[in-house]
Amino acid sequence: MSQNKFPSLREVHMKKILVTGGLGYIGSHTVVALQEAGYEVFIIDNLSNTSIDVLQGITEITNTPPSFVRLDLRIKSDVEKFFQTHKDIDGIIHFAASKAVGESVENPLLYYENNINSLVYLLQECKAHSISNFIFSSSCTVYGEPDVLPINEEAPIKKAISPYGNTKQISEEIINDVCKVSSLNAIALRYFNPIGAHESALIGELPVGVPQNLVPYITQTAAGVRKELSIFGDDYNTPDGSCIRDYIHVVDLAKAHVKAVERLINAENSAKFKVFNVGTGKGNSVLEVVTAFEEISGKKLNYKIVKRRPGDVVAVFADTKKANDELGWKAVHNLKESLASAWKWEKKVRGI
Ligand code: UFG
Repeated sequence: MSQNKFPSLREVHMKKILVTGGLGYIGSHTVVALQEAGYEVFIIDNLSNTSIDVLQGITEITNTPPSFVRLDLRIKSDVEKFFQTHKDIDGIIHFAASKAVGESVENPLLYYENNINSLVYLLQECKAHSISNFIFSSSCTVYGEPDVLPINEEAPIKKAISPYGNTKQISEEIINDVCKVSSLNAIALRYFNPIGAHESALIGELPVGVPQNLVPYITQTAAGVRKELSIFGDDYNTPDGSCIRDYIHVVDLAKAHVKAVERLINAENSAKFKVFNVGTGKGNSVLEVVTAFEEISGKKLNYKIVKRRPGDVVAVFADTKKANDELGWKAVHNLKESLASAWKWEKKVRGI
């Protein structure tokens, strides 16, 4: 609040959004988008898979330091305490979760505890403090292997392949159930494959250890951090034999969250619980991504074809009509732009 007797116009209109996992990859880009759209942001993060330096990157981009508290959402008493002292929250975007498919197979309880318990504690606080706007980070992983492409939101949810995928399915069900019996209004955004970084290269994706995902593996290989990219299979039933995904620029994805927040805050959600695909609508194969990267970077990528990775779906890309029409959102960056931003970020991180 300003020193003046009356709050400024900006203070009157500023809605406060709590962003859990707000220092993570997608979270940090969303915090930037929210601040740029005029929202006040409060970040909760336990720093388990990111660094406090991200806060500085967000602040440099937006000239506004978001509020931040280090908090582990698995500790129910800490979550309760947080909400007792922060009563003016207009909405929550819940990113905080574990997200490595392979790790979830090795350690399912970590995933059920971190992804499910935390969600339940948050929703309990929503109920206790009448917070009715909730946005959830879901994933196209809930569809499993699609029968029809592009895939739309009406497609059946198939049995999850990994505990990670299962947590996303269960979480959507939990939120839907709570919406039916409370004032909660919620949107689940089903992300396709987020890649890239903010154009400033002040924030981006910083995987801990060996990257599990394609694009950070590519950029680290090009930067000389990894010797060689392994392409998991070239014998799939696709035009070039490699798997097809819908790679979406993380800044476009971040903006979908702002649209979702607006929709909830303006009470425009036509149902208590809505799901939206957030992708580009275009599928690209792994080999196409490699070629596009070579073109934008001017570097020849060292890669070899290896056997298929268990659990990979052959092809998935989004039908984005619902997000376009109802959310008023559309991805604007193409694959090459996304890869160029990822490469710019990698070079910045490595000092090259
Ligand atoms: N791939 C390779 N080599 C690699 C890494 C990936 O060939 O070193 C291939 C995969 O086999 C797949 C494609 O690149 O065909 C994309 O793989 P990613 O691991 O980047 O992403 P996924 O499509 O497997 O998506 C997974 C989860 C999503 C989650 C996403 C980001 O299924 O739910 O990772 O964490 F959102």
